[in-house]
Amino acid sequence: MLRNTEDRWGWLSKSFHWIIAFAILVMVPVGYVMGATYALEYENDNFAMVHMWLSRVHQSLGLIILIAVTFRLGWRLHNPSPNLPAGLAAYQRWLARLNHVFLYALLFVLPLSGWASLSAYGEAPTYFLWIDGLPNLVPKRPVDDPFGFSLYSGIHHFCIDAGAVLLSLHVVAALWHEFVKKDSVLRRMWPLTTGRAPREPA
Ligand code: HEM
Ligand code: HEM
Repeated sequence: MLRNTEDRWGWLSKSFHWIIAFAILVMVPVGYVMGATYALEYENDNFAMVHMWLSRVHQSLGLIILIAVTFRLGWRLHNPSPNLPAGLAAYQRWLARLNHVFLYALLFVLPLSGWASLSAYGEAPTYFLWIDGLPNLVPKRPVDDPFGFSLYSGIHHFCIDAGAVLLSLHVVAALWHEFVKKDSVLRRMWPLTTGRAPREPA
């Protein structure tokens, strides 16, 4: 089923969720290796080439995530979303919702801050697939300017750390639903299932 209903996620919402989750799984190691090759870039041409390709993958995939999350949120707002199971306390519903809101916010702020950091730096192109240089998101600034590279790079790094905490809570919560509460929450998001929990009456 394409659309969400009151008790299950449709396949479009599931596909967005898992494609973005997989993309994040690729982005993080690529980001760290790319960061580690910054200094090596000047050692020889091979490192420069590796660095350039890692940057191209990191930036392109990051911007694809930005586009995907825009569509995902648009779709989310034009669809019902499944209710959480009845047995949950009000504070648990509230925490789940808050964590989802923050995760969505990070999926926007992470790519935008990365793009803004390169724009403010102004000496390296922002790659998108085969395009060598997207327009600047913010004006170029001197490196020591308070609204320069370090501000946006600081936001990028803060979001990476915050994302690690929120995502850990998210995964622990999903596993808690599956193995402790034994309800439908993980199953109905799981790919290639009909989404209705066999343990719960429909
Ligand atoms: C980078 C990876 C991930 C991100 C950014 C992410 C983000 C999100 C967001 C924003 C929602 C809320 C959906 C909505 O209300 O529109 C959601 C739902 C969900 N996620 Fe993730 N997620 C990720 C990985 C995972 C993983 C690894 C699991 C399982 C172990 C998981 C399990 C779930 C489940 C079960 C729901 C549905 C909750 C419900 O039905 O209320 N997610 N995810
Ligand atoms: C969801 C999307 C993104 C994630 C999860 C992500 C994650 C990361 C990670 C883990 C690092 C390594 C940090 C370190 O070495 O300490 C990094 C660095 C970096 N990312 Fe991203 N990134 C994303 C999107 C983007 C985008 C779209 C751009 C640019 C268009 C970008 C530009 C950069 C740059 C320039 C660095 C290295 C400079 C710095 O440390 O600030 N990122 N990113």
